[in-house]
Amino acid sequence: MKKTYLVTGGFGFIGANFIRYILDNRKDVDIINIDSITYAANPENLAGYTKNYRFYKADIADKQALSKIFNENKIDFVINFAAESHVDRSILEPSIFTRTNVEGTLNLLELSMKHKVEKFLQISTDEVYGSLGGAGKFTEETPLSPRSPYSASKAAADMLVMSFFHTYNMPVLITRCSNNYGPYQFPEKLIPLTIINALNDKEIPLYGDGKNVRDWIHVLDHVKGICLVLEKGDFGEVYNIGGNAETKNIDIIIYILDKLNKPHSLIKYVKDRLGHDRRYAMDFSKINKNMGFLPEYFLEKGLDDTIDWYVNNENWWRKILSGDYKEYYKKMYENR
Ligand code: NAD
Ligand code: DAU
Repeated sequence: MKKTYLVTGGFGFIGANFIRYILDNRKDVDIINIDSITYAANPENLAGYTKNYRFYKADIADKQALSKIFNENKIDFVINFAAESHVDRSILEPSIFTRTNVEGTLNLLELSMKHKVEKFLQISTDEVYGSLGGAGKFTEETPLSPRSPYSASKAAADMLVMSFFHTYNMPVLITRCSNNYGPYQFPEKLIPLTIINALNDKEIPLYGDGKNVRDWIHVLDHVKGICLVLEKGDFGEVYNIGGNAETKNIDIIIYILDKLNKPHSLIKYVKDRLGHDRRYAMDFSKINKNMGFLPEYFLEKGLDDTIDWYVNNENWWRKILSGDYKEYYKKMYENR
């Protein structure tokens, strides 16, 4: 039987990769994409996709607008990607993070309950667990200890989602994934920023001592993990998704510079991010044991493909660089 997925934030990086993957591989799914089209959205990410696909411009924090969409459509699954997603922006302006990430999620939960959706999947992040100092990894049992306004808003959303399971027995699932990279990622994030600045022979700002560690995962591996959880996950459960690719920021940047034959002198050490989490590492043995999930990309192969994508899609990122992004970049990096 055909299912209708309501996907929020489908014009963003991961949402667009998810929708493309589903529409390329499944004939039995209709997608409704709700996106308010913030700075991070790009409708071009889904150019050419019209079959089994509809778009509504709406803000998930606007319950009336959402309610209209739920009334007009029979929705089977809700997959909530929509969020303010950038830690640095959350340090500058926390309130839009609680509005979208917390109030928006609550609206979706209430309407999904009212309309009896079959499954509600919240796309969350490893950042809700906080920061790792020495050894060890985050498991699903690690207590939540978010340290930025972004991660605090995501943790609050996760708690609301779980509260709907315990209180109303709602069919909810949560995935928590590590740092994604790949095609269509907005240039504010470390990997596209490094590739684009290097291509433009521009300095690459490296925060603090450059030794903060992230567990990088190719976005298509994340998407495949999400599909597994949607299909096989148990309600009320959290599933960690990771890339098995812990790497220091400095090493990511050096890899990209070497690949593009650019000098290491482009690296500029700058003032650290406030409250900068030192290390993230994911134990994803639960989704591995229960569903056979394993990331397919090795980091080098994923980075090579991603570098090629940005080299071959200059039009995509040039348009972004010429807009509001210029102002953002100045505010974030000038005199840093
Ligand atoms: P993104 O910033 O690239 O895209 C977010 C999308 O949500 C945009 O299209 C934006 O217009 C839309 N949006 C924002 N506010 C909205 C609102 N109020 N109403 C409707 N739409 C709105 O984000 P991303 O990197 O694709 O992340 C997607 C989700 O995955 C987020 O929930 C994020 O927390 C989570 N996540 C991201 C990563 C990562 O490394 N990028 C890792 C783990 C989890
Ligand atoms: O871990 C999952 C999270 O990964 C997601 O939940 C977030 O939505 C996503 O933005 C990402 O958060 P990070 O803060 O880890 O990603 P970002 O690309 O902003 O930064 C990665 C690392 O690189 C981090 O240690 C900060 C550093 N950095 C980042 C930028 C933008 C720099 O050194 N210089 C930079 O200019």
